[in-house]
Amino acid sequence: MNIQEQDKEYIAGTYNRFPIVIVSGHGSIVTDIDGKDYIDMTSGIAVNSFGVSDEIWRSAVYEQLCKVQHMSNLYYTEPCVKVAKILCERTGMKRVFFSNSGAEANECAIKVARKYAADTKGPDYYTIITLRNSFHGRTLTTLSATGQVHYHELFRPLTPGFVHAEADNFSEIESYAKIHKTAAIMIECVQGEGGVIALNPDYVKKVADFAKDNDIILIVDEVQTGNGRSGMLYSYMNYDIQPDVVSTAKGLAGGLPFGATLMGDKVKDTLKPGDHGSTFGGNPVAAAGAVSILERIDEKLLSGVRVKSKFLFDAFANSQGIEQVSGMGLMIGLKTSKPAKDVVNECMKNGVLCLTAKDRVRLLPALNIPDDLLARAADVIKTCCK
Ligand SMILES: Cc1ncc(COP(=O)(O)O)c(C=O)c1O
Repeated sequence: MNIQEQDKEYIAGTYNRFPIVIVSGHGSIVTDIDGKDYIDMTSGIAVNSFGVSDEIWRSAVYEQLCKVQHMSNLYYTEPCVKVAKILCERTGMKRVFFSNSGAEANECAIKVARKYAADTKGPDYYTIITLRNSFHGRTLTTLSATGQVHYHELFRPLTPGFVHAEADNFSEIESYAKIHKTAAIMIECVQGEGGVIALNPDYVKKVADFAKDNDIILIVDEVQTGNGRSGMLYSYMNYDIQPDVVSTAKGLAGGLPFGATLMGDKVKDTLKPGDHGSTFGGNPVAAAGAVSILERIDEKLLSGVRVKSKFLFDAFANSQGIEQVSGMGLMIGLKTSKPAKDVVNECMKNGVLCLTAKDRVRLLPALNIPDDLLARAADVIKTCCK
């Protein structure tokens, strides 16, 4: 049996995989088992921040691997402290909890918000308002937070205490917070899985002010939008707001499983010993990867992301077969006249890997994708959309 056949035989059938086997890569080029190269406009769904097998990241990870690969959280280790310090210094947040994925980072955010509300207002203040069309993960609680009914249907009963308000409709937030004893409001500034749709800045500001005025915890899910992808370190920084809790993962450690929940002043002491934990959370190898990634996401890199973003928005504007371009930074959605899936398959045949998000083509290239590759990929995508 070849790899695809063995995969079908032995691995749970939860993924509709593309019919290629990726065996290696370098930067924004990946190579399949037959030796065919592709320009990678997916970066492992916003994970490989500096592409595949980037040398600087690889040496940081390897150096740590040769020192100690893991110790339990019962001991102090240096790499996770370095990551936490960088994150706090660059966001103004005060404490970090480490986990291994976006869903886990959100689980922690939800626990922090519920504990804070229970401590300050009482245990019946547990409702979390999230948005329709949002995506917050696949564990039962983050699935319950996710505002898309089709993810819920097969897995009831869900975790109670989540209501889903319409995005960009501020009065619905106000009325939900009146009806429900509310612990938190949780948003993605750009709904990634929901079709790469950025929230309205005016709305986000009103939600943040409302949360502050009513002592409701504002959680911003930066799992997909974070770590430079939006053109700022975190997407909320484009909106002039200060969340109480930020969850992130994906691109943080550049390709190793790593999640972080950042806690602001209000909730910095909410979690006490024994309230939460994770065996692998803060793993030294993943943390060393994260230090290397965060140190490189400086103003020069971020302005490069914004320039590359503008290049793509301009390239796709008024292009035949592309009805709308959405998103922010290097997180771009294309509403295409042809079905998005057909466009993505056609791009793959022509040597460019892209994704879909709902009915859109989704592009999430590495933050440092070279300009010539970006231009070549944009040409292929435009041709496949016609
Ligand atoms: C906004 C958002 N939150 C949470 C998640 C879940 O992350 P993970 O798959 O690492 O658990 C995702 C994954 O796509 C996401 O896009």
